[in-house]
Formats: sequence, C-alpha cells, structure tokens
Amino acid sequence: MNAEPLPTVRPTKDQLNRPLRDLRISVMDRCNFRCPYCMSDSIYHEGFSFLTPDERLSFDEIERVARVAAELGVTKLRLTGGEPLLRPNLPELVARLVRIPGIEDIALTTNGMLLARQVTALRAAGLHRVTVSLDSLDPAVFARMSGGRGDLQTVLDGIEAARAIGFPHGVKINTVVQRDVNDASVPKLLAQFRHTDVIVRLIEYMDVGNRNGWDRADVVTSREMMTRIDALWPLDPVSPAYRGEVATRYRYVDGGGEIGFISSVSAPFCGNCSRARLSSDGQLFTCLFATKGTDLRTVLRDADHAGEDEPLRQALAGIWHRRADRYSEERQERRFRAEASPEDRAGEKIEMHYIGG
Ligand code: GTP
Ligand code: 5AD
Ligand code: SF4
Ligand code: SF4
Repeated sequence: MNAEPLPTVRPTKDQLNRPLRDLRISVMDRCNFRCPYCMSDSIYHEGFSFLTPDERLSFDEIERVARVAAELGVTKLRLTGGEPLLRPNLPELVARLVRIPGIEDIALTTNGMLLARQVTALRAAGLHRVTVSLDSLDPAVFARMSGGRGDLQTVLDGIEAARAIGFPHGVKINTVVQRDVNDASVPKLLAQFRHTDVIVRLIEYMDVGNRNGWDRADVVTSREMMTRIDALWPLDPVSPAYRGEVATRYRYVDGGGEIGFISSVSAPFCGNCSRARLSSDGQLFTCLFATKGTDLRTVLRDADHAGEDEPLRQALAGIWHRRADRYSEERQERRFRAEASPEDRAGEKIEMHYIGG
C-alpha cells in the first residue's frame, strides 16, 4: 500500500483524445541477446557504441519523470531495455517507483537470462509482474532467434523461478512469430505452458526500427495462428481486462488456461494507445514507430531549475498534448489503398532495443 496521499492528477489528453496512462521506461540500451528481428549481430557487434553510464538517466532522474507522469495520469510503468536486468541495482529502482502515489502496476520485460538470480530481490522490491520474451523451445530455433547468445535452459529456469515465487499480477511470455522461423514450433511452446498460470502471448512480427529487414511475407497473422491453435486445442474469446488492451485474449476450452494475440500489423490498436516511451538517455517517444523523440534529459539536468518539477511537467504535458501518432493504423490504411508502404520511413525510425518494445 502507498503511504503517501494520491497526487492531484491532472489528466492529459492527446490530439485524438487519448489519455496518458502507460509509461515504458528503457533502463538499458545494451542487451545480452542479438535477436535478428531487433539487434542483428552484424550491426550490434563489438565495435558498436552504446550509451555511456553518464548518458543514461540516473535512478533519481527516472523517478522524477515517473512521478511527474503519474501526476499527469500514468498508472502503469513497464521497465524495458535492451535488457533491463543488465542495469545494476534494478530492484532499488523498482522499490522507489512502487512508492510513487498513483502508480498501480509495475511490470518488467526481460529476456530471462538473468532473471533467476534477481527474481527474489525484484519481488521483494514490489515488482507486480514479469514478462519474459521466449520465441521457441526448439534449441536450434531458440539459438537462431536470440542470435546465438542465449541459453534456453537458463531462460526456462528464470520463468520457473518467477512462477514459483509468484507475482501479484502474474507472469507472461512474449513470443514473436516469424513465418518459417518459429511458427511451426509454437504449439510445443504452448503445450509446455498450458495448465500453468503462465500466459503466452503471440506477437505479429513488426516493422520496428530500420535494421531487421522486415517483410510482410514473414508475418504470420494472429488469425492464422488462432486457426492453427484452435484445431489443436479449441479456443474461446475472453473479454478485455481493460480498455485498449494490447493483446486479444482467448482461453482453452479444455481448461488449459489463457493465451493472447498481439496483432499490431493485421489489426492495429492505435485508437486506444495510451503509451509513452522513455529511452535510457531520456528521450520521450509517443509511438513505437516514432522518428524522433523529445529530449527530457536536458530539462532534468538544467542547473538553472535544479530540483524544480514544473519545467518537466510542462514539457511532458506539452509533448502528450501535441501527440497525434497512429502509425500502425496508417500502415493498414495505406495497404488498403495500395499506396507505398510505411517503410518509407526507413532509415528514420527509432530502434527497438533503444526503446524496449
Ligand atoms: P499488458 O497488457 O499490460 O501486459 O502489457 P502489453 O500488452 O503492453 O504487453 P507488453 O508490454 O509485453 O507488449 C508486448 C508486445 O506488444 C511488445 O513487445 C510490442 O511488440 C507490442 N506492443 C506493445 N505496445 C505496443 C504499441 O503501443 N504499439 C505496437 N505497435 N505494438 C505494441
Ligand atoms: N516485432 C515484434 N515484437 C518485437 N519485439 C522486439 N522486436 C520485435 C519485432 N520486430 C518484442 C520482443 C520482446 C519485446 C521487448 O519486444 O519479443 O518481447
Ligand atoms: Fe532480443 Fe529483447 Fe534483446 Fe531485442 S532487447 S535483442 S528483442 S532480448
Ligand atoms: Fe501506439 Fe504507435 Fe503502437 Fe499505434 S503504432 S499502438 S500509436 S505505439
């Protein structure tokens, strides 16, 4: 329970009347995996320059942004990377964020490699839920999709450790589905987690960033996956848990639990998008596909206004107020009109590892 009183919330709406509810915070641009759809090894090699520790926001700075965001209506935080568990002392940040009045839910998205050893401290710090990215249980496919860096058993141990300790808002698995890469191995993954309280969500492979060579032919739509899965284990729809839920949820009719589909390519959900994304160096982005962000670090480090939150509040509220992003819907509309695809932003979009998905 929060001991502090609730803040005076000044809800802020964007140009499409969407409130600001979620803040996704990238705490680390580095990653110990090299998933080709996100951080191909050929680009992110030894010589690639990542941010320096000074360039990354400190815990104090992240906490300030989260506190001001909560005053503007944010109730959910998600810590992402790159790989967030590479950030030293992450549980300390969680413990600070949990205490912010108005924050009801703090989640972590991780590749799971470092989870088993940190899960107790994260749980003790008050983390509400964990999402682990896992694309296949087939060792060869897993190796290919994590760029040869991960260890499947270690990730599974991390998931089991999280499940065993128990998180108040649960444990999920995110699986990006790519045609002829891991789509055939999806049933094996689902079978492993059916009849557990771990919920698997299948994500349509997206054209994020500029470096993954995305091709629509590699996307397996949720509809296609659902048909395939329904033939194995019949599914029934489940109503959304909240307005604007990213995943469409189903349950196995035989009582095997729940599964989610994230259809950002075939059925965009921009209409309810209430998510802002903060990069580890303090740029704020109002869309996963944004071409540029707004520098909040300069505001945070402005010596003339040290310790004052008002400039930050104005910057954040102004950015959200001006927002009109709806990239995935635009992608869809252009496709229907057979216009040039939105890859016309190629070379300009922010990269996924920098903003955390
Ligand atoms: P909860 O419903 O709170 O569990 O969160 P979530 O559904 O947002 O889940 P999560 O943060 O794990 O997101 C899963 C994946 O969905 C991300 O890795 C992205 O691939 C995709 N995704 C999430 N938010 C957006 C979004 O705003 N736009 C698009 N296009 N994709 C998104
Ligand atoms: N398409 C869909 N999801 C992606 N992710 C990373 N890159 C992509 C992509 N191109 C997901 C990962 C992870 C989260 C951080 O983002 O699977 O769950
Ligand atoms: Fe893979 Fe996530 Fe790392 Fe990207 S940030 S390379 S998706 S583990
Ligand atoms: Fe939100 Fe942009 Fe994703 Fe649409 S494409 S749901 S606006 S982040």
